[in-house]
Amino acid sequence: MKTQSPFDLSALQQTLKGKGPLPILKAALAHYENIAISFSGAEDVALIDMASRLRAGIRIFTLDTGRLHPETYQFIEKVRETFDIRLEILSPEAAPLQQMVNEKGLYSFLRDGHQECCAIRKVEPLRRQLQGLDAWLTGQRRDQNPTRAELAEVEIDVTFSGPGKTLVKFNPLANWSSSQVWDYIEAYQVPYNGLHERGFISIGCEPCTRPVRPNQHEREGRWWWEDGAKKECGLHAANLES
Ligand code: ADX
Ligand code: SF4
Repeated sequence: MKTQSPFDLSALQQTLKGKGPLPILKAALAHYENIAISFSGAEDVALIDMASRLRAGIRIFTLDTGRLHPETYQFIEKVRETFDIRLEILSPEAAPLQQMVNEKGLYSFLRDGHQECCAIRKVEPLRRQLQGLDAWLTGQRRDQNPTRAELAEVEIDVTFSGPGKTLVKFNPLANWSSSQVWDYIEAYQVPYNGLHERGFISIGCEPCTRPVRPNQHEREGRWWWEDGAKKECGLHAANLES
């Protein structure tokens, strides 16, 4: 899809290449008023800490799939109380969700693959939210997933842009490793999801996430019954095309 950004995106991409979170965040906030952070309820909380220091009342949204762990719900509430942010909790549309669970049950993803359930519980609510934004910020990192190895610091979101609308996506943590994120959380005493104390690294929905063993890649704890290499749920589908 050909889309145009309201400024010279390739110049900004050059400027931000290899940079850490702060310069990327600052550039995102300088270019966009109508921007929000997409928060998963995991260690991407570091991004909220950084951003709320730069812009009071920054918009955050989280996709409440209805299938998160109790610890994740408690943590999201803690984040709401701790930071100076405007947190939006997004629910799936009722009709397609009811049709799916009534026809196929509550665990159809184990049999049919996760795409249909993720499309209803995550991707459609995300699409609705992004329609009202000019840009969004994610906590994706290159080291999280082989599909993210080439992740750009800033990019046109080809999945969610449309005719007459160019959506820009910033990934401020792109060049940070997991240990840099955890050093930040410790240094700034940022609250974190209690599941991380129990061997969980990458955290998604409860039935589709499990802890990993030492030296297992974090992605192996997600949708483990499916083929290993290319695990994206649709929020970041363009990562599969590169
Ligand atoms: S996922 O696509 O496989 O689920 P992952 O858990 O690695 O994504 O998280 C990467 C980034 O995607 C997060 O930092 C966040 O920006 C976004 N994200 C993932 N899950 C959610 C969610 N439930 N709500 C909002 N954003 C999310
Ligand atoms: Fe459904 Fe699992 Fe996807 Fe959550 S991660 S939306 S429960 S398939």
